[in-house]
Amino acid sequence: MSNAPVTVSNSVASSSGHAPDPATATVAIFGASGDLTARKLLPALYDLWSDGYLSDVAPIVGVARKEKSDESFRNEIYEAINGHVRSGAVPVDRWNQFARRLFYRQLDIASPDGYHGFREQLETIEDHQGTPGNRVVYMATSPDLFLPAVEHLGFGGLIPGRDAPEWLRVVFEKPFGRDLKSAQELSGNLRRLLREEQIYRIDHYLGKETVQNILLFRFGNSIFEPLLNRNQVDHVQITVAESQGLERGRGGYYDNSGALRDVLQNHVLQLLCLIAMEPPALFNARDLHDEKLKVLKALSPGNRGDISSWAIGGQYSAGLVDGQPAVSYLSEERIPADSRTETYVAMKVLVDNWRWAGVPFYLRTGKRLPSRVSEIAIQFKQPPLNLFNTVECEGDVCELVGTRPNKLVFRIQPSESIKLSFSTKRPGMQYQIHPVTMDFNYKEAFTQALPEAYERLLLDVLRGDSTLFMRSDELEAAWQFVTPILDHWEKNEISPEPYRAGTWGPRVADTMLHNDNRAWRTPST
Ligand code: BG6
Repeated sequence: MSNAPVTVSNSVASSSGHAPDPATATVAIFGASGDLTARKLLPALYDLWSDGYLSDVAPIVGVARKEKSDESFRNEIYEAINGHVRSGAVPVDRWNQFARRLFYRQLDIASPDGYHGFREQLETIEDHQGTPGNRVVYMATSPDLFLPAVEHLGFGGLIPGRDAPEWLRVVFEKPFGRDLKSAQELSGNLRRLLREEQIYRIDHYLGKETVQNILLFRFGNSIFEPLLNRNQVDHVQITVAESQGLERGRGGYYDNSGALRDVLQNHVLQLLCLIAMEPPALFNARDLHDEKLKVLKALSPGNRGDISSWAIGGQYSAGLVDGQPAVSYLSEERIPADSRTETYVAMKVLVDNWRWAGVPFYLRTGKRLPSRVSEIAIQFKQPPLNLFNTVECEGDVCELVGTRPNKLVFRIQPSESIKLSFSTKRPGMQYQIHPVTMDFNYKEAFTQALPEAYERLLLDVLRGDSTLFMRSDELEAAWQFVTPILDHWEKNEISPEPYRAGTWGPRVADTMLHNDNRAWRTPST
């Protein structure tokens, strides 16, 4: 029997490592002087090219307001991406090969004036490179430029008609709106200019290898899926924790956003969808979006009471992270001294459908927590009868314990893995319980480095596959769930609960689980 990897022949699994068909479309990055371009987008394009997914001639055009030559743009990018590509350093000869198709365009994105010239420049570049004029525009800009930029693309003749031989796809970074109303408005306005299949709303968590594997694990194996429901599962915990505080220059954006908008509304709810959704009829974009949408529509509050009893905001005060002093959120650069922005949010939610009714999903995300770790932990119910007891001592304190509940933990990052824990008999003359884990670890199982999320997502845009992007109704359903929480906090001027930097969040978040006779996991690091 062969152990060769099996390639699934559908669009979702298209980048399987076999004879890639290199993409030749032009990629224009709006907001090319930003951090995302240097740290994520250009390294991802370089790696795609290195692996043969991007052709030697496909033009990449950086677009930003500052005046700059192609040459100085190339030099800046070389400095910036060195160390961020998969191979670590970029060898000079490889760089020279790659950089030949890098160009720069000075443009005031907010003003329509330069867009005709921009189109002419793209045409000249594409003629020179011999590429067909298909284009991806990546909006790595502040969100208030999304709509004007697309309007000006239309004005500049850059949006081809439905029947035109060439295509345009536009990628929007988050945040896509700041509540339900603004997300609906933005989608409505964009729809006047672009068709839904031209719009790619990115959530980079969906591009992470370990996140994509959740679907394969659940629907590509038969033994786990029958366990994932209200009969077997006690509760689920989803954690997206970061030890870092605010990255330099991010204060303005973050203070306007907060943990609920920045991470929970998108990354955490997407993880919840993948773990809770029903199997799609077919493994294609539409059916997957349809199933995720059903989960989002079934979300309901964990308690009937006041929103503050099941949705808790926190804000870090000064503390120690990794042994280093960390300043409080209010002392970070560009943060107003009286800011009520939450840097942590914890929530208890239910998925009110036949599969999950009554099973709490505890969600939490925050900055300045003890470590950077993202995971989904499914805790199963205890066996119906406890036949085995054992004495466990910690120091002088001993207690009689039974078997521990089984847990299935998807570690999204770091030390990517899937672990199943269960109880065994400790060798000896008595029935002594010993907890053990079965552990699938990516690093041990696969030698190749995991691709970066942005690589996968950029390739999908180039190939026209929107499976790993957010459809507008999905995004709106997510906003529909979180907007009442945001409104409640704002209307009642609720201040986030303080927590010391380097701890796992405010006490009230612990109490929320305590009240249910449960506790947050401390993810191993
Ligand atoms: C981004 C948020 O979407 O996700 C950041 O804006 C956050 O605030 C980041 O730090 C976390 O992503 P990752 O991939 O580092 O877990």
